[in-house]
Amino acid sequence: MSTKQQGGRTTGKFKTSEKTGASAEKSSSTESNIAPAAGKLGVMVVGLGAVATTFIAGVEAVRRGLAKPIGSLTQMGTIRLGKRTDNRSPLVRDLVPLADLNDIVFTGWDIFEDNVYESAAHAKVLERDTLEELRPYLESITPLPAVFDQYYVKRLQGNHVKKGKNKRDLANQVIEDIRAFKKKVDRVVMIWCGSTEIFIEPSAVHQSIESFEKGLDSNDIGIAPSQIYAYAALSEGVPFANGAPNLTVDIPAMIELSKRNAAPICGKDFKTGQTFMKTVLAPAFKARLLGVSGWYSTNILGNRDGEVLDDPESFKTKEESKLGVLDYILQPELYPDLYRDIYHKVRINYYPPRGDNKEGWDNIDIFGWLGYPMQIKVDFLCRDSILAAPIALDLVLFLDLAKRTPGLRSIGIQEWLSFYLKSPQTAPGLYPEHDLFIQSMKLKNTLRHIMGEDLITHLGLEYYD
Ligand SMILES: NC(=O)c1ccc[n+]([C@@H]2O[C@H](COP(=O)([O-])OP(=O)(O)OC[C@H]3O[C@@H](n4cnc5c(N)ncnc54)[C@H](O)[C@@H]3O)[C@@H](O)[C@H]2O)c1
Repeated sequence: MSTKQQGGRTTGKFKTSEKTGASAEKSSSTESNIAPAAGKLGVMVVGLGAVATTFIAGVEAVRRGLAKPIGSLTQMGTIRLGKRTDNRSPLVRDLVPLADLNDIVFTGWDIFEDNVYESAAHAKVLERDTLEELRPYLESITPLPAVFDQYYVKRLQGNHVKKGKNKRDLANQVIEDIRAFKKKVDRVVMIWCGSTEIFIEPSAVHQSIESFEKGLDSNDIGIAPSQIYAYAALSEGVPFANGAPNLTVDIPAMIELSKRNAAPICGKDFKTGQTFMKTVLAPAFKARLLGVSGWYSTNILGNRDGEVLDDPESFKTKEESKLGVLDYILQPELYPDLYRDIYHKVRINYYPPRGDNKEGWDNIDIFGWLGYPMQIKVDFLCRDSILAAPIALDLVLFLDLAKRTPGLRSIGIQEWLSFYLKSPQTAPGLYPEHDLFIQSMKLKNTLRHIMGEDLITHLGLEYYD
């Protein structure tokens, strides 16, 4: 569907509302040929645990009118278009052609044989009544055998796994799974909702498609199961999202493959609870030039994710992802007096009684005028999977949109989806934007841009002409 067909908006110009002269002059090839979201969207979920089952059951509950998709920008969000005086704020899904929830078809892999109903019951996120109401549908989704190796997730042991002579063979088996699913649907997106793997540093095997493929043949230890799924997806032109902090597609080989096969990718690790709050509060301190001397973050959680993260090697992967945000937001090199000496600590403690209902505490030591100290305490009693499910939905729908959008599909990394992720992925040499409101603006301006709408800079001088 062209943007012209979608309501006669002008296309072909990169324009701004409340604009600067510079960006007003800039012209770019705005999209006018986004393919329609026709037919079925197949969603292949790796790991059918707490997040995945809450996502799948939630989509089905919304489809049946049992509940609202709260937390989902694609379903409930609006987007301002034009000037503030224009009074145009359609729903996001009325501006861009997104797949309808009724057109989503799920499948997935897990190392356990439990169907989605059984796994959701085990996860204990959703109420029993809700699960019973959805039971036949949830029972109909059974996992395909997984690619798994306990070396990469120490605390898990499952036997619903593929066997193969080497990693290449396993990748080929995943490719076969994708091809079989493609026969039932019109388009496919893959999302990793599997466990956090051990910390892996990028190495020679990750540097090009050729070295990666050699590594698949030689069973290189640097290739984790998540990368075997991602390789299979990108080889098949299937967009890939990563809900965990695993290295997965954050390597040159995958970026190359993503561009080559027009299979969009984005960063990693759903930004849900504590980090979501951190990326709201830290930009506020910086905007007001308040100093931060310490930020201590601790969590208790008792779900399977918590159990996996109890292993130091998996925790290290999560820790890196959670620690990264403050440095980038606070920019101590630009504000040495305010942030040079910050002590930032993150802990996660496995505490079974809480299940999925995590508690995240933050103690923040700040200082103000003349260096006088103050403290802020945040105690977020959240529900991990309830916060993650709408993010999974939005990522899937937006990656599918990117795949259908000529100007986005072959650029590889979709930085505009940073909004959803603790570790946004960026072009080499670019620092990631972690500030939630910059990320939100980037996302919405990308949607305006692909639909030929004016970008919004919030300058607003034209109202005072
Ligand atoms: N819930 C949140 O708020 C949140 C936020 C950010 C990131 N995450 C990440 O999302 C992921 C999922 O979280 P969860 O709470 O659903 O965990 P979970 O333990 O309930 O589910 C993970 C599932 O993945 C399966 N799995 C592991 N390795 C696999 C493999 N190689 N192939 C197929 N299946 C595999 C496990 O058997 C399990 O069923 C975790 O990595 C977690 O760190 C969650």
